Amino acid sequence: MSGHRSTADITAHNPFRGNRLGGGGPAVASAGIDGRTVVVDFDDGSTSAFHHQWLRHCCWCGDCGDPSDGIRFTTVATVDPTEVPAGVAAVDGDLVVDWPDGHRSTYGGDWLAHHAYDDDARRRRASWRPTLWRADVVDAFPTAVWDDVRPDGGAPEALLAAYRLLRDHGIVRIAGLGSDPAATEAVAGLLGPIHETTVYGRIYDVRAEPVAKLGAKTGMPQAPHIDDAFAYSQPGIDVFHCLVNTDEGGLSTYVDGFAVAEAIRHEAPAAFDLLTTVPVAHVRRHPGELEMRNRAPLVSLDGEGRLQGIRYFDRALAPMDVDAELVEPMYDAVREFDRRMRSDEFRAVLRVAPGDGMLIDNHRVLHGRTAFDPSSGRHIRLCHVPRDEFHGRLRDLAGRLGAPDHGWHLPQGSRI
Ligand SMILES: [Fe+2]
Ligand SMILES: [Zn+2]
Repeated sequence: MSGHRSTADITAHNPFRGNRLGGGGPAVASAGIDGRTVVVDFDDGSTSAFHHQWLRHCCWCGDCGDPSDGIRFTTVATVDPTEVPAGVAAVDGDLVVDWPDGHRSTYGGDWLAHHAYDDDARRRRASWRPTLWRADVVDAFPTAVWDDVRPDGGAPEALLAAYRLLRDHGIVRIAGLGSDPAATEAVAGLLGPIHETTVYGRIYDVRAEPVAKLGAKTGMPQAPHIDDAFAYSQPGIDVFHCLVNTDEGGLSTYVDGFAVAEAIRHEAPAAFDLLTTVPVAHVRRHPGELEMRNRAPLVSLDGEGRLQGIRYFDRALAPMDVDAELVEPMYDAVREFDRRMRSDEFRAVLRVAPGDGMLIDNHRVLHGRTAFDPSSGRHIRLCHVPRDEFHGRLRDLAGRLGAPDHGWHLPQGSRI
């Protein structure tokens, strides 16, 4: 590397918060060296130990650089793993560490507590659980009101509450969005920029057409499905905006894929093992344009066995390409999912009102519809926003509001 601007230049253009959160939290009451760690007592009575090289590596001061801009000079390569602090002290609620080379690191108590890696702290960060739901979710459907969350005039606290509904239930209705087509983009903008695709473009108008290129553009019923399960990384958040609905048919159906998967885990463990380990393929061909294929397990788990993502699109399931002796067990396993997905127990049925929006985690919640008369004028607009953008905004907003859930691990979605 050569000719980089001086650190002073860089930090002048990139104000950062270093090792502080600014949202409140415990203060450092005392600190001392114990073997290869620094032991910190916080003023809330808790104690955490931090390894010396962890502290040196995590210094986010102006000279070391911090994650706000990716301009960072201290990396694993520059840290001496044998280095022991020359001194440590609690100063005004911060931990101050003096290193043998004269470098001084200062860590806010809130930042340290937030990143502590003792058992309790790690359990806390891993404490998020989905709120599982079944068909009766329609009796108390997760709902936010557009005027409360809109960028011009809404409140950040209400937006965070709506984000949490989407995070926890995988779905939230945005009531009162109105029937102006421009509102589709506005409501998507709550979550992030729209993801454009060959098949849908930026925003897709779902209404019956005389010559339909996609099943969506007919009046046919559609079983609940994950959109574009044939993509390596399927679309993140589905943003639906209902402009015109019918009085008969055209009901929306929603299924919590996590609830179905948990039921299978308990009721059909052999099928659960197959669904979480053996990849199934999904395919979509648009001759002359593209042919998309993905191979991944129908149910993705994280390293702890928690549900991470669902990938299932009945109409797009590709020819089974597994060991011959697994073909029949895999069909049986997929049927365990499919049967519950279509059942009255799991499948929520709802008439979405014109002017309502629906935000759906497409790595968890499956959506479909009942048949309708193609001449009825039913008109839904659809676009997609990446989940990273949504979770990224959720963390930032929760952090700014000092909410304790801002550091939680969230499910990273269906595996690629
Ligand atoms: Fe769809
Ligand atoms: Zn530093």
